Amino acid sequence: MKKHLLSIDDVTTDDIATLFETAAEMHDVQRRQVKKLPALRGRTIINLFFEDSTRTRSSFEIAGKWLSADTINITGKGSSASKGESLRDTVRTIAAMGVDAVVMRHAASGSALQVSQWIDAAVINAGDGTHEHPSQALLDAYTLQRSLGSLEGRHVVLVGDLTHSRVFRSNVLCLTKLGAQVTVVAPPTLMPSGVDAWSKQVGFATSYDLDAVLLSADAVMMLRVQRERMSGGYFPSAREYTVGYGLTRDRLATLGGEVPICHPGPMNRGLEIAADAADAAQSLVLDQVSAGLAVRMSILNHLLAGEGSNND
Ligand code: NCD
Repeated sequence: MKKHLLSIDDVTTDDIATLFETAAEMHDVQRRQVKKLPALRGRTIINLFFEDSTRTRSSFEIAGKWLSADTINITGKGSSASKGESLRDTVRTIAAMGVDAVVMRHAASGSALQVSQWIDAAVINAGDGTHEHPSQALLDAYTLQRSLGSLEGRHVVLVGDLTHSRVFRSNVLCLTKLGAQVTVVAPPTLMPSGVDAWSKQVGFATSYDLDAVLLSADAVMMLRVQRERMSGGYFPSAREYTVGYGLTRDRLATLGGEVPICHPGPMNRGLEIAADAADAAQSLVLDQVSAGLAVRMSILNHLLAGEGSNND
């Protein structure tokens, strides 16, 4: 494995297999009453979050704690960033304390790569603007693999606000790496510019027609409509979005009871996903959360523990 996890491009198919093997062991640890492992004793991990988060931040924090690392959280609000300190000064200050890893989330695409060039600690990208969110894609693929078996040749459909979604970008890279056939669906206004060239390069399909694509879906991943990143009108009304692109009760009925449904959260119930779909027996939403802990323990363990740490 490389020193940092900035993008899914940083991991090979073999790395993913190794990460998933360790994640499966960590998943077992999660079921024990005493969950502590000594692997990262004496190591320090900073969670540096300049954007809001519930699951990613707590998941990395718990993952670090269960591996016996010292974990500390810093958020944009309440840090010197709100006094006007530059990102470079903030991370160099943290690095000067001798931390081993920085898990960071920031609104600027490319910020995690930038930070990895400023400091010696391992950097894990927990979401950089609309660019990537690799640990999310790894936990999504891990969850889907546990549900479907191998992803080779399976048709995975991603639906939603693709323009603003780093989860979409990391997921197409990860799922295609694992052999899945991926189709991404969005209204034309939320289909990212340049997607045609990128889809040819990576090898995935695009569509505006959710109902047609769902007919052959082996799994569906709904993505949040990210209103906080929208400045203009991307769709006429919430109702219209739901009719065209929501996983509604009707679409759930056509999908049948077997096709797994994922959502990285947080969900806009009633907008991109109906409550019936979010809470259906085939919904993997909470499995994603618990798998997320196991996968993040695995990531931290591979980046920081034992031999091979701090090597490019
Ligand atoms: C995602 C994110 O922050 O990119 N959430 C998450 O990490 N679980 C997706 C989103 O915000 O919609």
